[in-house]
Amino acid sequence: MKATLVIKGISNLITLKGENRPRVKDDLKDIGLIKNGVIALQGEKIIYVGEGELPPTITIDDSTIVVDGNGKTVTPGLVDSHTHLVHGGSREHELAMKLNGIPYLDILAAGGGIHSTVKATREASFGELYEKAKKSLDKMLEYGITTVEAKSGYGIDDFETEIKQLAVANKLNERHPVDVVSTFMGAHAIPKKYKMDSDKFVEIIIDEMLPEVAHRGLAKFCDVFCEDGVFSVDQSRRILMAARSHGLIPRIHADEIVSLGGAELAAEINCITADHLVAASDEGIKLMAKKGIIANLLPGTSFNLQTGKFARARKMVEEGVPIAISTDYNPGSCPTENIQLIMSFASLIMRLTPEEVITAVTINGAAALGLEREIGSLQVGKIGDIVIFDSPNLEYLIYHFGINHTDKVIKRGEVVFSKI
Ligand code: NIG
Ligand code: FE
Repeated sequence: MKATLVIKGISNLITLKGENRPRVKDDLKDIGLIKNGVIALQGEKIIYVGEGELPPTITIDDSTIVVDGNGKTVTPGLVDSHTHLVHGGSREHELAMKLNGIPYLDILAAGGGIHSTVKATREASFGELYEKAKKSLDKMLEYGITTVEAKSGYGIDDFETEIKQLAVANKLNERHPVDVVSTFMGAHAIPKKYKMDSDKFVEIIIDEMLPEVAHRGLAKFCDVFCEDGVFSVDQSRRILMAARSHGLIPRIHADEIVSLGGAELAAEINCITADHLVAASDEGIKLMAKKGIIANLLPGTSFNLQTGKFARARKMVEEGVPIAISTDYNPGSCPTENIQLIMSFASLIMRLTPEEVITAVTINGAAALGLEREIGSLQVGKIGDIVIFDSPNLEYLIYHFGINHTDKVIKRGEVVFSKI
């Protein structure tokens, strides 16, 4: 078998080898580390992963790209399974409010926050949104992200804007090396018009928006912001059940600020993930473990909201909840594309080990997008999405925080980013 790309002499090859399912408990630490590793690809697929030299069955010739992995740490491409990638404008004007201690939900209730991004996104053209999101996607790729989830949710009752966001995400998926998986999140805020009758908006989402999004194949997932003063548990249940009946996979922003019962709902209706979970109850965590619902943890958001509260990641791991970690990149609660910084937060603040963190952003992140059979680990037959970090070991990557350690990114067998 002829290899088209080979990385050899890899100081630390982190394969995440094992079953194609989210890892829990002690398996989160089992990262399949190979010292002096070698990996070979043919086209977009992985054809060999091992130690030392390539076996005689794998051949190379002049056209094979050979990369030296000495001194490097190599991992599967990182999966950012929760972002609000496509949006207009920015919200630096909220910084002063934040520093004055005004809570996130108060800014939202006063018509700011998400509503100000709704305005900017409605006003932006398709081209403007595309260019802005592309810039972010370029940055994400530089940080080692090879697959990203992108939500709508800045059109809310303006369905055309919701569709515009999804269309931008889908076009980026076609054109950009990073794979973009779309989520419909019309239920991101209660539109001002429906403040006194939010059930009316829920009905519109269920009767008009969901069928159209599903019919046009615009999204794989449906998400809801289940939160005090936003969508109630009952409204979230109705929206997500309807989404499922249209073939969209449910996921949920759950218990981010108030312990409302979002984690319990995620377990009840089998969401693929429940995200945030800063205020998730003990019972909610137990139920999620029982059902295998992935907890998608977003420490950058906790950091930026300055509440001092972070999801109880250690408890979740101990209880057997599968965990993923994402940026939650958005203009309000987490304006950064730097997943490596978020990984350091997950370790230094949430007390996850480097092994648990890398598992959470690879195979478990892939599972959070239903892609664990294709990506998330370096195993024969899987897609060749790989990051080469200029980092002598995994611990160093987490410990030396706030900078970009990426040396090269390989997407579907091609070098798509290389530090000069
Ligand atoms: O995941 N919490 C709700 N949605 C986003 C924030 C969106 C925004 O503030 O624009 C989040 O944190
Ligand atoms: Fe979010």
